[in-house]
Amino acid sequence: MKEPLLIYGAGGLGKEVLSLVRALDRFEPIGFLDDSLAAGTLVKGVQVLGGVEALKAFDKPVHVVIAFGDPVMKFEAASKIKGPRVIFPVLKHPSVILQDEASIAVGEGSILCAGSVLTTDIRLGAHVLVNLNCTIGHDTTLGSCTSVMPGVNVAGQVAIGNCVLIGSGSSIMNRITIGNLSKIGMGAVVIHDVPERVTAVGVPAKIVSSVSK
Ligand SMILES: CC(C)(COP(=O)(O)OP(=O)(O)OC[C@H]1O[C@@H](n2cnc3c(N)ncnc32)[C@H](O)[C@@H]1OP(=O)(O)O)[C@@H](O)C(=O)NCCC(=O)NCCS
Repeated sequence: MKEPLLIYGAGGLGKEVLSLVRALDRFEPIGFLDDSLAAGTLVKGVQVLGGVEALKAFDKPVHVVIAFGDPVMKFEAASKIKGPRVIFPVLKHPSVILQDEASIAVGEGSILCAGSVLTTDIRLGAHVLVNLNCTIGHDTTLGSCTSVMPGVNVAGQVAIGNCVLIGSGSSIMNRITIGNLSKIGMGAVVIHDVPERVTAVGVPAKIVSSVSK
């Protein structure tokens, strides 16, 4: 029997996560949680049950996946709902390749989207998003709540902190470190370490601003 699952966030990523869940055959998507849509709204045939308070209606532990691309929103959402009533499963599309699976640790609530390849000795924290068609190389870590957008290439021995956004189509050179809460713009090529709480864009990536939050 399929296990019931709630998707927190009924926006664009929420719809993509729903289609991923439907490709898995393990979970039954029983509703969305969304703080900004009216309860009863139908999204791709699945009802919005309400905001996070809708979780109170569940008297048994329930699987929840957080479908926000923004790392800080994801962190805040996870902090708000974590507890004994909530289980955060890992969602991995069947096409994802974990080349040396025994050496790859994936934290709770992480989402691995179609077409991504992770090679060997890789550690992902909780609630990491690896979006479509990414490659993650050897001896690399991605901290909790980090989001890697479509088509990113992360080389080997890369250390990416918590709540980092890596914009789509960017490339991160081997042995690079990227600090917590930083953002890398779409299409950037990162060849120097990036400190915490900055935005870096371009080829090669240069710091253009500090992240306030
Ligand atoms: C970099 C990014 C995160 C914005 O970060 P931010 O800290 O809010 O930065 P700002 O929007 O204030 O932009 C700062 C400067 O960088 C420039 N910039 C932003 N993104 C850029 C990019 N990808 N490449 C080159 N320059 C970029 C802006 O034009 C701005 O320049 P200016 O000060 O001369 O006007 C965002 O532009 C981005 O690329 N996000 C990734 C989106 C993505 O991958 N989406 C996939 C969805 S599936």
